[in-house]
Amino acid sequence: MEQKTTARILDGTALARRLREEARAQAADLPGPPPGLRVILVTGDPASEAYVSSKTKATREAGLRAETIRLPSDAAPQALLDEIDRANQSAEIDGILVQLPLPPGLDPRRIFDALDPSKDVDGLHPENVGLLHQGRPRFVPCTPAGIVALLEANEIPIAGKRAVILGRSEIVGKPLAALLTARDATVTLCHSKTRDLPTLCRQAEILVAAIGRPGFVTEDFVAEGATVIDVGINRIASLEEAPAHLRNSEAVRRSIEEKGKALVGDVDFARVSQVAGALTPVPGGIGPLTVAMLLRNTVIAARLGRGLPARD
Ligand code: GUN
Repeated sequence: MEQKTTARILDGTALARRLREEARAQAADLPGPPPGLRVILVTGDPASEAYVSSKTKATREAGLRAETIRLPSDAAPQALLDEIDRANQSAEIDGILVQLPLPPGLDPRRIFDALDPSKDVDGLHPENVGLLHQGRPRFVPCTPAGIVALLEANEIPIAGKRAVILGRSEIVGKPLAALLTARDATVTLCHSKTRDLPTLCRQAEILVAAIGRPGFVTEDFVAEGATVIDVGINRIASLEEAPAHLRNSEAVRRSIEEKGKALVGDVDFARVSQVAGALTPVPGGIGPLTVAMLLRNTVIAARLGRGLPARD
């Protein structure tokens, strides 16, 4: 049975297109060669392969340069550190992105510490993390930057609002808490030891799910009229892999039948859309904005490399 959608759907694809155009125009205005991005990919994760190819494709389409260095999945830490050193030293490279997740033998902290902080387009070097938390950001991690851009573009107020974030990762939850706090939201950052999540989440006027658990957020977590941001991109290859309550979802069922897989967020879209005031879809919500923000950060890196201030 088809259910009626009540939530406003926040379209990330349309906003991402505008932001990519902006990055293209800014890049074209810069002196010197087009900004250059080097992505370092330790192979072995099919999802990462797909993300990296969409990032490099979007980068080139915006008139920037992009290249990918692939390392084998069993690469030694030193091999990755050597690649980072080469990219740090290269005058051709403005921005460096080390795709996550890394295999278990590679400690992300040690890797991100090694980046030249003025080329760290992911904003994960401790200097950039510190600047963000002090409220004077240089590189803002792409996904949280995309979330804030989407809220602002849709004129969803942040100041004074109660925001609850599920997931305290370095790349989404923690930097997003800093960004929303800087915009005067009251932020609660939840994690695996948080007690009584549904009650806490129901207090949120802005609820962000970034935990990588398909369909985890149901209507029990959502206050009437809340804005719900779904950061999860979970690949499901069969109905058996889906949590029980998602197996009835017509969209999930159809996608698995037709494509042999479904992409589902951390939010149970069909059920939450009956309660939320606004909701991001998966795909087509936050994902495209992550890519657009990477272009913006690469332009910032190029500006810094050319002796210009990060922003006009
Ligand atoms: N893997 C998933 N999202 C990201 C991202 O924004 N940056 C990096 N480096 N890896 C990711």
